[in-house]
Amino acid sequence: MYRVLYRKWRPTTFSDVIGQSHVTSTLKNEIRLGRISHAYLFTGSRGTGKTTCAKILARAVNCLDPQDGEPCGKCVNCLGIASGSIMDVVEMDAASNNSVNNIREVLDEVVFSPGEAKYRVYIIDEVHMLTTGAFNALLKTLEEPPAHIVFILATTEVHKLPATILSRCQRFDFNRITPDVIAERLEYIAHEENVSITHDAALLVGAAADGAMRDALSLLDRCIGLADNITSEVVREAAGLAGRDYLFTLADCVINKDIPTAISTVNTLHSASKSMSRLCEELTEHFRTIMLLRTMKTKAKGLLLLSESEVEKAFEQAKRISLVQTVNCIDILTASLEKMFKGGNNKIEFETCMIKLCSPEFSDDLSSVIARIDKLEQAVKSGSYRIADKSESKSDDTAKSSENTSVNNVVSNAAQPAVVKTPTAVQTVQQNRAAAEERLAQLARNAKPLSNWEDILDAMKDRSAVLYYRMAGTNAYVSGDYVLIEAKDETPFEFLRSDPNRNTIVKEIIKQVLGRTYAIGPYRRTAKAAEEQKKNKLDEFIENISNSDIKLTVEE
Ligand SMILES: Nc1ncnc2c1ncn2[C@@H]1O[C@H](COP(=O)(O)OP(=O)(O)OP(=O)(O)O)[C@@H](O)[C@H]1O
Ligand SMILES: [Mg+2]
Ligand SMILES: [Zn+2]
Repeated sequence: MYRVLYRKWRPTTFSDVIGQSHVTSTLKNEIRLGRISHAYLFTGSRGTGKTTCAKILARAVNCLDPQDGEPCGKCVNCLGIASGSIMDVVEMDAASNNSVNNIREVLDEVVFSPGEAKYRVYIIDEVHMLTTGAFNALLKTLEEPPAHIVFILATTEVHKLPATILSRCQRFDFNRITPDVIAERLEYIAHEENVSITHDAALLVGAAADGAMRDALSLLDRCIGLADNITSEVVREAAGLAGRDYLFTLADCVINKDIPTAISTVNTLHSASKSMSRLCEELTEHFRTIMLLRTMKTKAKGLLLLSESEVEKAFEQAKRISLVQTVNCIDILTASLEKMFKGGNNKIEFETCMIKLCSPEFSDDLSSVIARIDKLEQAVKSGSYRIADKSESKSDDTAKSSENTSVNNVVSNAAQPAVVKTPTAVQTVQQNRAAAEERLAQLARNAKPLSNWEDILDAMKDRSAVLYYRMAGTNAYVSGDYVLIEAKDETPFEFLRSDPNRNTIVKEIIKQVLGRTYAIGPYRRTAKAAEEQKKNKLDEFIENISNSDIKLTVEE
């Protein structure tokens, strides 16, 4: 009968255990010196050798003829424990025996000396699953352990263990195993099994296993089921990494801001029974690939689960999306995945997620602003951007609306694009800007100090501490239908601009105090003064883009 590889190839000596030499060398040393603890705790991620080492240790402490700290594998004790005829090594799975009674039963036997072996060894796997009552029972025994008892506790979730247990154990942390170390062991096992595997394929299995040797061996099993000669292609097929073109399609949609294609791709995948949370994970992984390619260039290749041609394709995508936006995408995807795990409609969640990914400029949070700055910087650097057609038809409206000056569009019209390929739209922007600034200066010339401004600030304090904090120290003037706010720098205006609601709230408060509605704007005596106020052209330009209907398109 076929035995799965990971069971067949469970190491029987410490030297067979790979990637955990910090653990195995210490254990061997203790055996050699006869310094055996009463309680060991093995922690670390799954499939890294915890149970394996616990079994080896159970034999090593009982071996009649240990070889340099290793069990000999030949004496009656080694053979008896391996075959299960010696009952002194008790393996418990706390996940299924987690009741207080089960552990009590076990601990009741503790007082008896071992039957045939030197030590009675209790291996408690998944120990974090024990109930509080069970932990307390265990704790009692650990406080005064009989001399012939050894506990080996194993868990992936050490943070769930009570401190009282932790402090009574000798702790060993098992590491994730690196792909190259896994690959070496796989090549050895494949050779013993008369299977051929290429080095690249072994490395790919190693990378796909995420540090777990058990997962690596299961994947190797699946590969053997598919082919005698295991190549990277076979591994990709077995690991379900092949035929994932849709990830490139979705990433393209994000880069091109193509919402319709994104949504229809999601729908097609959903109809084909693709799990939306899995898709979310895969797309996160895809953006991670892009992130690594952007930051590590060719060095990233060894860390990726892609074929050569896919790496090339991903490289192309990486060139078309900024690092900041990539990181932002990963954040959005991770947040969506979390929401999916909390319950709700995964399909709607993923569609919403795709829309967010495709339209970073619609989001108000800081990361999206950074994404916009990043994109603009790229565009300014390459000198290649143009104002899209939509704005041209809109430009008349924009010109008219500049009459209706407010903090928002005064600043937004103040931008000066560097290289522009659509003269009409740009001229409009420039005209608007000049007109708006002229209008502001004119308003400022006729303005009178607003004596109630302190009352207005007080009212702000009642409404929102943050708002008050940002507006404190400002002055204000009245001119016609306008309240013009004077500030030392742009901070209060930036604060107001970052959320349209804030503008509305300020206007409401003004109305509440002054009894009528005013528009608000910055107090700037001359167009030149306005110019000086502008610290950062790029910022202004971003405002222009986000507050108007003008759409920025980066040309390749
Ligand atoms: N460090 C290792 N060296 C060699 N083989 C290993 C190693 N770790 C795991 N394996 C292989 O994986 C199989 C499972 O390992 P083991 O049961 O020891 O993992 P574990 O750490 O206890 O995992 P879990 O947390 O899931 O219980 C072993 O039978 C062995 O084939
Ligand atoms: Mg285990
Ligand atoms: Zn032995």
